[in-house]
Amino acid sequence: PVRESLIIAANRLPVSVKRKADGTWDVRPSAGGLVSALLGVRKTYGMTWIGWPGIFIEPGPERDSLTATLRRQNLLPVYLTKSQVELYYNGYCNNVLWSLFHYVPLNFEARLNQETNMTAQWVAYKEANRVFADAIMSVYRDGDIVWAHDYHLMLVPEMLRQDVETMKIGWFLHTPFPSSEIYRMLPMREALLHGCLAADLVGFHTYDYARHFVSATSRILGLEATPDGVETQGGFTRVAAFPIGIDPSRFTAALRTDQVQDHIKELQERFRGRKVMLGVDRLDMIKGIPHKLLAFEKFLIENPEWKDKCCLIQIAVPTRSEVPEYQKLASTVHEIVGRINGRFGSIGSIPIQHLDCSMQFPELCALYSVTDVMLVTSQRDGMNLVSYEFVSCQNKSNAGVLVLSEFAGAAQSIGAGALLVNPHNVTEVAHAIKEALTMPEAEKIERHRSSFSHVSTHTAQAWADTFISELNDTHVEAELRQ
Ligand code: UDP
Ligand code: G6P
Repeated sequence: PVRESLIIAANRLPVSVKRKADGTWDVRPSAGGLVSALLGVRKTYGMTWIGWPGIFIEPGPERDSLTATLRRQNLLPVYLTKSQVELYYNGYCNNVLWSLFHYVPLNFEARLNQETNMTAQWVAYKEANRVFADAIMSVYRDGDIVWAHDYHLMLVPEMLRQDVETMKIGWFLHTPFPSSEIYRMLPMREALLHGCLAADLVGFHTYDYARHFVSATSRILGLEATPDGVETQGGFTRVAAFPIGIDPSRFTAALRTDQVQDHIKELQERFRGRKVMLGVDRLDMIKGIPHKLLAFEKFLIENPEWKDKCCLIQIAVPTRSEVPEYQKLASTVHEIVGRINGRFGSIGSIPIQHLDCSMQFPELCALYSVTDVMLVTSQRDGMNLVSYEFVSCQNKSNAGVLVLSEFAGAAQSIGAGALLVNPHNVTEVAHAIKEALTMPEAEKIERHRSSFSHVSTHTAQAWADTFISELNDTHVEAELRQ
């Protein structure tokens, strides 16, 4: 594969910075699938990563010193103002685009209060995209590949194309792209499509998302679509599916370390005699955490003999906590957990261990490893890498079962090895929990073998290699056409 210099632009850097009480920086890995996948690629490409460090700092010596620290790791921070974070990130990206792309219609109640804001949010979105485009231009050299990521940066390809007509530009969406019937609700639908169509190559996790995008461009912009992409004025934008993966060796290697093995022993001791079920999700509406809890409750009601024989560990990683919908979700989840634990718990044994926190990598690997049943009940999810990570931490001698939402992109790749469920059907999920807990050993091994072989071959590295080589080819073809 080609190894040009690669510029990655994503809203978030792979590290997020917080200020500690003593004034020093707390620099931690960022959560989320985009960061996990790209970290798996960073080893082989000489890449500069441009993104927001998750903190507001006034210009001055403090900011300069943080920039210098990050620059040493090939990270170029983009500092957003408080108002940009509010209007662009919390507002337009998370309240509008994230919701709609996951089939949650624009929340009219929220918009009643925000109506005056909607225009301001859009202005801030354009402004923030300009800030990212300028940051890219500040490091861009002729011949570099620029790869912009996700719904935050849909206008960046067009802005860059206006600056350098011959730039090699790719754009990849890490969320679903909804049916055009949903997408066309978006007030700024044309501008966003034009924005990303300026890339040479536009990529999605699944064939369905790519097809939805192409049909949105033909229905909304009236452009000519072919199975390979979209004819734009005087050009062609290639559109294709590139299913993302993980770096499985990062997990299998971690499992061999003493640190992870010690955690595993501790967990096995703590949960001796009980089957462990696990959920690992950012505390996000799209992850269907309340549905998962209700299904577990129904399972306990229908199968009281399992009450002291199993437990559900739910890791709910804090995310976007300034957005009101996310705050509401946290209290809904806490209420359901309290109710179930109150009803089915006893002194010394509670059915749900719910943690509102992020996990250190070694602990996460140990948890995946000791889990008997992994529950992924997303209502919509671009891919869902947690399911891949679980599979990579299991093996033939402890093959756990993956219960996976059919609405996660992963259902289309590792679905054959999983128990696929409709997360909106609580009864169906409750039955799948029982089926998973009582599945014969031979079936578990066979299902795991099928998923594991996919996860091991469809890696993050292979994903990036394929995307970049396709981007190079598309760019050459475009030049020949001129
Ligand atoms: N993850 C994390 N911190 C945690 C728990 C999980 O960063 O405390 C990671 C997890 O390992 C996975 C990613 O967050 O790589 C979640 O990716 P996924 O595709 O499942 O969903 P997303 O959060 O991107 O919607
Ligand atoms: C998803 C998005 C990413 C985002 C991540 C975490 O994976 O596709 O772009 O970084 O969620 O969300 P956050 O808003 O904290 O960056």
